[in-house]
Amino acid sequence: MTTDQAFEPAIRVQGIEKSFKDLQVLRGVDFDVRAGSIFALLGSNGAGKTTLVRILSTLLKADAGTATVLGFDVAAQPGDVRESISLTGQFAAVDDVLTGRENLVLVARLRHLKNPGAIADGLLARFSLTEAGNRKASTHSGGMRRRLDIAMSLIGNPPIIFLDEPTAGLDPQARIEVWQTVRQLAGQGTTVLLTTQYLDEAEQLADRIAILHKGTIIQNGTLTELKQLLPPAKVEYVEKQPSLEDVFLALVGDTGETNDGADRTDDADRGGAVPARKEPQ
Ligand SMILES: Nc1ncnc2c1ncn2[C@@H]1O[C@H](COP(=O)(O)OP(=O)(O)O)[C@@H](O)[C@H]1O
Ligand SMILES: [Mg+2]
Repeated sequence: MTTDQAFEPAIRVQGIEKSFKDLQVLRGVDFDVRAGSIFALLGSNGAGKTTLVRILSTLLKADAGTATVLGFDVAAQPGDVRESISLTGQFAAVDDVLTGRENLVLVARLRHLKNPGAIADGLLARFSLTEAGNRKASTHSGGMRRRLDIAMSLIGNPPIIFLDEPTAGLDPQARIEVWQTVRQLAGQGTTVLLTTQYLDEAEQLADRIAILHKGTIIQNGTLTELKQLLPPAKVEYVEKQPSLEDVFLALVGDTGETNDGADRTDDADRGGAVPARKEPQ
């Protein structure tokens, strides 16, 4: 690569394609994520968001195209990629029988870090979990669990974090807590790629929003840029700006339909609860 380091994006996705048998999920996906920014991949259920995150985190091979993370090719340099990222899935990977603190200590031990106790205490404080830290995770609220999950994924200070539907299933208060956590991360220089099907989440958090629909990115821009796609509606003397929802529905059509996905419930993401799908190698 001859690209100037300073301008190299933290994540670069070029022409990524992926099919599962006859189902073409990704048909040539392209986007860049600037270092230190929050990038939202917005798409309906079944659009292929998790598939793309799995490709970027080296868990799944693409059929075509290239992707780099911190300049490392996900297919050719998976070890380097894994050291640069953390992945928080849609369902919290927290162990219920352990306390919050024990969960963190466990991960720090697994990563062979020195002073796992001090690392755990630091993260508990950073995520306002100190008080809850000595209680079993099973007693944590949804928002606390998700924050603990994100805290666990930050052990080892990865510069890039993937959050796959970080607030799916959370109540409004817990969502706000997670949003604050994500903003805090980006404020400290971490690059965040999050997927969401919630328009308000993208609107609240993202520096840039890319809409994944029918296997490709149909729009990519800042919230202001996306809103400019539709002219403001004038009602008498009041100017009404289009909401992101107006823009989204105008772009994808108001059925919001995408690659089927009907045959599969969200539980399939959970891994443990249902038999894991096997990828043909
Ligand atoms: N391992 C797999 N085998 C077969 N089909 C899959 C597999 N993973 C995902 N799919 C299908 O690919 C499509 C996209 O899924 P996914 O990436 O999970 O979408 P999203 O995360 O946007 O909801 C869905 O139709 C889903 O059923
Ligand atoms: Mg998903």
